[in-house]
Amino acid sequence: MIKGNFVFHNNVEIPKIGFGTWQIPNDEAYDSVTMALKNGYTHIDTALAYKNEENVGKAIKAFDIAREDIFITSKLPAQIKGFDETLAAFNETITNLGVDYLDLYLIHAPWPWDEKGKDCTEGNIQCWKAMEQLYNEGKIRAIGVSNFEIKDLQPILDHCDIVPMVNQIPFYVGRDQEDLLAFCKQHHIVVEAYSPLATGELLDHDDIKKMAEKYDVTPAQLLIRYCLERETLPLPKSTHEERIIQNKQVDFEISSEDLEELKKFEDIRK
Ligand code: A2P
Repeated sequence: MIKGNFVFHNNVEIPKIGFGTWQIPNDEAYDSVTMALKNGYTHIDTALAYKNEENVGKAIKAFDIAREDIFITSKLPAQIKGFDETLAAFNETITNLGVDYLDLYLIHAPWPWDEKGKDCTEGNIQCWKAMEQLYNEGKIRAIGVSNFEIKDLQPILDHCDIVPMVNQIPFYVGRDQEDLLAFCKQHHIVVEAYSPLATGELLDHDDIKKMAEKYDVTPAQLLIRYCLERETLPLPKSTHEERIIQNKQVDFEISSEDLEELKKFEDIRK
């Protein structure tokens, strides 16, 4: 089972694989998160927009684990682009989860989902300043962003005090976003990979299946390992226990030749 942590630029540590809960409905979230905790996951990723924080929180509470031994991430809804609204949404999240602090809080996206691409620079700066305040008050151990491109990150770096600890982006074989990856590395921003299986679409790919067989692993394990080899933090999600277990058993190495092959993939979802 994969162990170990990535370390943020403020020295807070985050377990190398997280359990993603996007698209897990509230009524399934309790069982899924319980299964994940039972099988050694100590890092759970949710969001106010997933509408499952309540049962994610209940599962964590019911499980025999100290608060400091679990890493909880949640996200500020994408449509919120103001200082006071950010503080209010944060309070809603910690109330839903039943916790008094978060380990990581992210701006969910640089623009509202129904206005993708809109320039919300000023709003994002206001959100970020509110998150910096919460961070300085000790209510969040690390702050970051999600779905940000370089042009979205740069104003935060230019106008704010704290460099984001994280950028959570869609990342999988065929969607490496090399420029963004290099930019984040340069600024010590940990890249988290959501949809590491391309939401399942890569699992039946013949070349992935063939390469996985060579390593005696499943396609999902190969794809998750790829994220780690690229120094990103995968957030696989599943509602099935055998898959939840399998997705953490990725303690093998992909050869440099095979890594180069994987880097050449086209994005299957385009
Ligand atoms: P399920 O929840 O039924 O297990 P991604 O993390 O890229 O968004 O992909 C999630 C999708 O992949 C879900 O549909 C999930 O289905 C499926 N999935 C997750 N882990 C595995 C696995 N180990 N083998 C096959 N499918 C998986």
